[in-house]
Amino acid sequence: MTRVWGLGLLLALLLPLVGTSMPGTVVRLNKAALSYVSEIGKAPLQRALQVTLPYLLDQSGETLQPTRIQIMNVHVPRLRLNFVADFGVHLLAAANFNFKVFRVPEPLELMLPVVLLADAHVAQGPIQTPVVSISACYSLFGNASVPAGSNSTSPALLVLLQKHIKAVLSNKLCLSVSNLVQGLNVHLGTLIGLKPVGPESQIRYSLVNVPTITNDYISLDINAVLFLLGKPIVLPVDTTPFALPHHAGTQGTVATVGLSQDLFDSALLLLQKAGALNLDITGQLNSDDNLLNTSALGRLIPEVARQFPKPMPVVLKVRLGATPVATLHTKNATLQLQPFIEVLAVASNSAFQSLFSLDVVVNLSLQLSVYKVKLQGTASVLGDVQVTVASSNVGTIDMDQVHTLIGTVFEKPLLDHLNALLGIGIALPNVVNLHYTSAKVFVYEGYAVVSSGLSYQH
Ligand SMILES: *[C@@H]1O[C@H](CO)[C@@H](O)[C@H](O)[C@H]1NC(C)=O
Ligand SMILES: *[C@@H]1O[C@H](CO)[C@@H](O)[C@H](O)[C@H]1NC(C)=O
Ligand SMILES: *[C@@H]1O[C@H](CO)[C@@H](O)[C@H](O)[C@H]1NC(C)=O
Ligand SMILES: *[C@@H]1O[C@H](CO)[C@@H](O)[C@H](O)[C@H]1NC(C)=O
Ligand SMILES: *[C@@H]1O[C@H](CO)[C@@H](O)[C@H](O)[C@H]1NC(C)=O
Repeated sequence: MTRVWGLGLLLALLLPLVGTSMPGTVVRLNKAALSYVSEIGKAPLQRALQVTLPYLLDQSGETLQPTRIQIMNVHVPRLRLNFVADFGVHLLAAANFNFKVFRVPEPLELMLPVVLLADAHVAQGPIQTPVVSISACYSLFGNASVPAGSNSTSPALLVLLQKHIKAVLSNKLCLSVSNLVQGLNVHLGTLIGLKPVGPESQIRYSLVNVPTITNDYISLDINAVLFLLGKPIVLPVDTTPFALPHHAGTQGTVATVGLSQDLFDSALLLLQKAGALNLDITGQLNSDDNLLNTSALGRLIPEVARQFPKPMPVVLKVRLGATPVATLHTKNATLQLQPFIEVLAVASNSAFQSLFSLDVVVNLSLQLSVYKVKLQGTASVLGDVQVTVASSNVGTIDMDQVHTLIGTVFEKPLLDHLNALLGIGIALPNVVNLHYTSAKVFVYEGYAVVSSGLSYQH
């Protein structure tokens, strides 16, 4: 069975998914995101620039003398990244190199300031991930100097050393920057990884078109596909293309993530199809706070008392046939559930006997939050629970009386169950080791927005 599911999952992933039926999200990385990258990027850049140098062959003397030169450390005091509209990102890094020259009779220390300039193009890769490539790269060299107080050297040797170092570094540094960017691309590729939603369900994001880049931000259209047992969840109606309005969320934030109504609808459809929202509420006999027994029901419905002279446990089978509906209004999100409840009693032969069934409508207020990479929710009942009798095997039911009883025994278990599910949450678009921090969720007419910082965990 697992093998069949595995195959189904594989097929679902390989089959081209129709773009129009995928719920949209937009991830906008603002200028503050580049500031963050330049802050955390200094250390990896320093490591990448620590290249090895070939020996210097000094032909000035009588004999050919190879001299070993080693980079002792690289310090990057300044790394500046800027968006370049319709293109990508411009990089400027100031680096100070410290060399040790293993010269006989005594070693020599050397400092060299270098400015690196690079243009990085951001595009959509073949597997629907963002891909960065270095399109231009230059290094500008300052003059080498010997640290004060160290052994002096002849100007001729300094010129020779400087020429050698520049010749080597002008190629190697740009190659190192390219390699660093390749590593970044591998990291960005994890965007499309399957993330678990529940035990048998996953979500997968992909970049659906070329990123939009302005001087202030890069905006990525990232669609989601939810899978249940390897099959994509397809909404009954075509999804509408989602665009993130410019001023949504808080200004100056690192990341702004727009989540379409379709994403909420898909997640709820997944929960319903998976049967995750169904639950059985069972009463225990001889417990004081349990109203679920035939003697308690029999006080309200005479026919129940007649059929069950001895108290028997009662079970509520709560089933969600209809998909829950999330409604997003400015500053408020609500959820409507329409459970069908079958009320059963355990008969003397320990078989279940259906007493009656109810159609219920519950309106819930939904609070959204983000923890690490997940969008989570908390629901609370809004107003009154609407209960109507769908069928009855115990004659006429006085709804006024049963309403209170059902409301009492049903509301809390349903809320606990729902909140446990919403608490698990659903992964937002992300790459490995990158978390959302201090996120605020804003709800607007037909969409939600997460304004957040980002934190890279090494
Ligand atoms: C300077 O030369 C002495 C030997 O003459 C050596 O021990 C020392 O390490 C050298 N200092 C530097 C900074 O290269
Ligand atoms: C490097 O030294 C040369 C000659 O002393 C000088 O002309 C030039 O301006 C210096 N360059 C820098 C970047 O300091
Ligand atoms: C049935 O429910 C009532 C109301 O909660 C309770 O007082 C009574 O003890 C219950 N009876 C049994 C047998 O559990
Ligand atoms: C949510 O917003 C809608 C539209 O503004 C309004 O009709 C509704 O009463 C609000 N609900 C809550 C719980 O605030
Ligand atoms: C639930 O909300 C809908 C839409 O706001 C409203 O029409 C309906 O009367 C509410 N039902 C209950 C049971 O509160």
